[in-house]
Amino acid sequence: MAERTIEQLCGNLLAKREKASQGGGEKAIAKQHEKGKLTARERIAKILDPGSFVELDELVEHRCSNFGMEKTVFEGDGVVTGYGTVDGRIVYVFSQDFTVIGGSLGEAHAKKICKVLDLAVQNGAPCVGINDSGGARIQEAVDALSGYGNIFFRNVKASGVVPQLSVIAGPCAGGAVYSPALTDFVYMVDKVGIMHITGPQVIKAVTGEDVTSEQIGGATAHNRTSGVAHFFAKDEAECYDQVRKTLSFLPSNNLEEPPFKETGDDPARADLSLREVVPTNPNKAYDVRDVIKKVVDDADFFEVQPMFAMNIVTGFARVGGRVIGIIANQARVMAGCLDIDASCKAARHIRICDSFNIPIITFEDVPGYLPGLNQEMGGIIKHGAKLLYAYSEATSPKITVVLRKAYGGSYLGMCSKDLGADVVLAWPQAEIAVMGAEGAANIIFRKEIDAASDKAATRAEKIEEYRNAFANPYVAAARGFVDRVIMPEETRLAIHQALTMTEDKKELRPKRKHGVMPA
Ligand code: HXC
Repeated sequence: MAERTIEQLCGNLLAKREKASQGGGEKAIAKQHEKGKLTARERIAKILDPGSFVELDELVEHRCSNFGMEKTVFEGDGVVTGYGTVDGRIVYVFSQDFTVIGGSLGEAHAKKICKVLDLAVQNGAPCVGINDSGGARIQEAVDALSGYGNIFFRNVKASGVVPQLSVIAGPCAGGAVYSPALTDFVYMVDKVGIMHITGPQVIKAVTGEDVTSEQIGGATAHNRTSGVAHFFAKDEAECYDQVRKTLSFLPSNNLEEPPFKETGDDPARADLSLREVVPTNPNKAYDVRDVIKKVVDDADFFEVQPMFAMNIVTGFARVGGRVIGIIANQARVMAGCLDIDASCKAARHIRICDSFNIPIITFEDVPGYLPGLNQEMGGIIKHGAKLLYAYSEATSPKITVVLRKAYGGSYLGMCSKDLGADVVLAWPQAEIAVMGAEGAANIIFRKEIDAASDKAATRAEKIEEYRNAFANPYVAAARGFVDRVIMPEETRLAIHQALTMTEDKKELRPKRKHGVMPA
């Protein structure tokens, strides 16, 4: 037998690589493009630094022979996996390839995903998953289900250890949705990503409801209504920019600090226009994002879940180059009150920040909890408790700025000193009290008001009396619940000083397996 030359052997390898890189073949790729979707490899190229991708397991094949599957074998088995860099830092990726058997997941496909998840945890780097799949490969039966189970298990083990980001850039249905749901951030591409447990036909058969896929599982539905997704992208390019931007705020793992970036924005910059943003009248609205943008470096505020529970604002930014996580009551939506969705949204963001050593900055202007039967029966008690739990549990530096209202239980709920805030700052118009002046005066001076000949004048007088006595930051400051009362333009420097002061914060808690988060 003629000996094979190294050229022939290398030629064979190149041919295999070339075939693998074609996924399901030219026709299938053209069909993918016709649907307005990128291929699995094109997507990875958009996320990673140019030329940094190292593919793993590109020659893996499935070993299923049910229903003639031995004749349908593709190198890579419908998912492209490996690692590369984003801004020079290692990131693991998997990208399901719809051109190969609809991106369906069988035993080999799942093992490839598990391998990168294991490597991400072992080597302390984030993992980005791109989902575009018909779900469990029907021919592989229980092996496919087991594959999902193995992925879920790893998602949970990796949670809070390395960042996990999930892009939905195609179908993601049935139990398959639970892998993204177990990760830190979900990105959905408009009119491309679909996530639901049961599709329109099943819903019609079971409940009789007529719904469309977009209604129950589209990017708008999950960003605006269900809160399952954290980012809405108009197209894939925007989505991958959002992924890269998110990573720019996160450390590679829970043992590292978030990435410092010299921004050149002077931490002592005092913006006098901040005095005009928050009206001193507690009943007037404004956009808290204007406060945030004037305080953070280069007005660069990266909002998370901007379309959901808009009465609270969450996101990332930097002050003096240091990454911060932000929680802020949004006075212009439902007066910034706390309700079920806002509590869940904020609690989750706090836990993500705390997992990854990101200081938590709270901008507080909160009138209270939203009253109503829906809220009570929807479980505002347990969901509101999540916020208290998350703040109290967090050991990252916690800095609270009371902008205006801080009433009652919601004052505590927005990270008061008692919940472990390291530094509490308050603006001169802050009102830290059990409730607003009008409500308080009506209760505690009811008898005097009722007995007065001019009730309206007496009521106004008593409201003013209460406002002067309690609707200010000075009672709390006198007790040490507020560390410093500052002018609005001093906020940026005060936060920077507090971040510097808490930079080496170490807080030890009693050992336990884990707490029991209200659910
Ligand atoms: C095997 C599958 C498949 C699957 C798609 N394909 N899904 N093969 N198992 N789950 C194959 C198709 O047969 C087809 O093969 C090719 O992929 C492309 O699919 P199309 O139907 O032509 O594409 P499209 O019209 O875009 O429709 C996409 C789709 C549809 C909506 C996803 O394929 C579909 O409904 N698939 C089945 C979805 C499903 O019920 N999955 C199981 C969910 S339950 P050919 O050879 O024709 O090109 C689940 C449980 C997970 O996932 C449990 C975890 C705990």
